[in-house]
Amino acid sequence: MPRPKKALITGSGGLVGSECARLLCEQGWDVIGIDNDMRRWFFGEAGSTTPVVNGLQEKHSSYRHAPIDIRDRQAVRNLFETERPDFIIHTAAQPSHDKAASIPYEDFDVNAVGTVNLLVAARDFCHESPFCFTSTNKVYGDRPNDLSLRELEKRYDYADGREGIDESTSIDSCLHSLFGASKAAADLMCQEFGRYFNMPVGIFRAGCVIGSEHSAVELHGYLAYIVMCAVTGRKYTIYGYKGEQVRDQIHSYDVARLFLEFYAAPRCGEVYSLGGGRANSLSILETVDLLEDLGYKMHYSYNPANRIGDHICYISDLTKARSHFPNWRQEYGIKKIVEEIVLRYAVPASTRSG
Ligand SMILES: NC(=O)c1ccc[n+]([C@@H]2O[C@H](COP(=O)([O-])OP(=O)(O)OC[C@H]3O[C@@H](n4cnc5c(N)ncnc54)[C@H](O)[C@@H]3O)[C@@H](O)[C@H]2O)c1
Repeated sequence: MPRPKKALITGSGGLVGSECARLLCEQGWDVIGIDNDMRRWFFGEAGSTTPVVNGLQEKHSSYRHAPIDIRDRQAVRNLFETERPDFIIHTAAQPSHDKAASIPYEDFDVNAVGTVNLLVAARDFCHESPFCFTSTNKVYGDRPNDLSLRELEKRYDYADGREGIDESTSIDSCLHSLFGASKAAADLMCQEFGRYFNMPVGIFRAGCVIGSEHSAVELHGYLAYIVMCAVTGRKYTIYGYKGEQVRDQIHSYDVARLFLEFYAAPRCGEVYSLGGGRANSLSILETVDLLEDLGYKMHYSYNPANRIGDHICYISDLTKARSHFPNWRQEYGIKKIVEEIVLRYAVPASTRSG
C-alpha cells in the first residue's frame, strides 16, 4: 500500500492552519502541525490556540504536533530534513496590522524571517513539494483607497463598476502598516523562490478569512468579533468611514479546499487575490442589519477616527483563482458564515442582555 502523503502546516493551531489540518487529516494525509502558541503572546489568554491543537491531537491520529518556533532556523531545517513533506501550507504569522506597530521586531521576525526560514528549508529538502503561503491584501496597503468610490445607502462601492481588487494592483508607494510591510517582504520572497528556484510556491493574498475556530479579538478579524459582541451583548466600536466600509468574507474551509486545488495543479511563484468575492461582501452597517435579522440587536458606538491603513472598500476579484482552479467552488455564502459564528457564541435568549 502506498504511504499516505505528508503535509507540513505551520500555524496549525490558528484559524486557517487548523482548518487545513482537519481537512487533510480527513482526506487521509499525515499532517505535521507547527505552532508554538505565539498567538497567546500576541493577544493574551483569549487568543491562545492550545485548545485547538489539543482538539486536533485528540480527534486525528494522523496529526502530529511540533511546537517549534518558525523563527528558529535550525529547528525548521531539522524538521524539514527529517520529514521531507509532500506539501507545505504556511499560515503561521503575527496576523494583526494594529498590533505590529508595538512589536516591530517580533512582527518582522515571524512574518518575514520565519517565511524565509521555511522557504530555504523547502528548497533544500523538498524542492518539488507545492508550498502555499497565506499572504494578505494588506500588501496593497491603502492603495485600494485611491479608487473612486460611490456611496450607497449603507456601503461604499467602486465607482468604475469593477468586480474587485485583482493581482495587478501595485504594492508600492502606499501606507501598509508594519504588518502589511512584513507580509509584503514574505510575499515577495515567496514569489522569488517560485521564480528564481523554480519552486511550486503559491501566494494567496487573503482578505477577511473567517471560520468556526476563530478566537475573536478586537484587533484581528472584525466579523467574528462583531458577531461575538452581538450575541453576548457586548458593545462594539465602529472606527471611521461611517460604518460603510466593505469587506468580503471567505470561510477557512474554502481556503483549505483551494490550497488542495493548488497542490493538484501548482504553479511557480503565482500570486492570487483571495477572499469571498462580491457575493460575500458586507459593510459594517449591513453586518449590523444581518445580525438584527438573526435576532441579535447590536449596541455600538462610533469613533470617527478610522484604523490606520484601513480599507474603505475591499472586495477580492477572484477571476484568476477561479480560472486556474475551475473545480473550486465556495461552499460558504455570507449568511452561512455569520450563522456559524452566531452558533459559536449564542446564549439562550432568556439570558441575553439588551
Ligand atoms: N484571518 C484573516 O482574516 C486573514 C486575512 C488575511 C491574511 N491572513 C493570513 O493568513 C494566515 C493565517 O491567519 P489566521 O487568521 O489563521 O491567524 P491565526 O493567528 O489564527 O493563526 C496563526 C498561528 O500561527 C502561530 N504562530 C505565530 N507565530 C508563530 C511562530 N513564530 N512559530 C510557530 N507558530 C506561530 C500562532 O500561534 C497561531 O496559532 C496568516 O499568515 C495571516 O496573515 C489571515
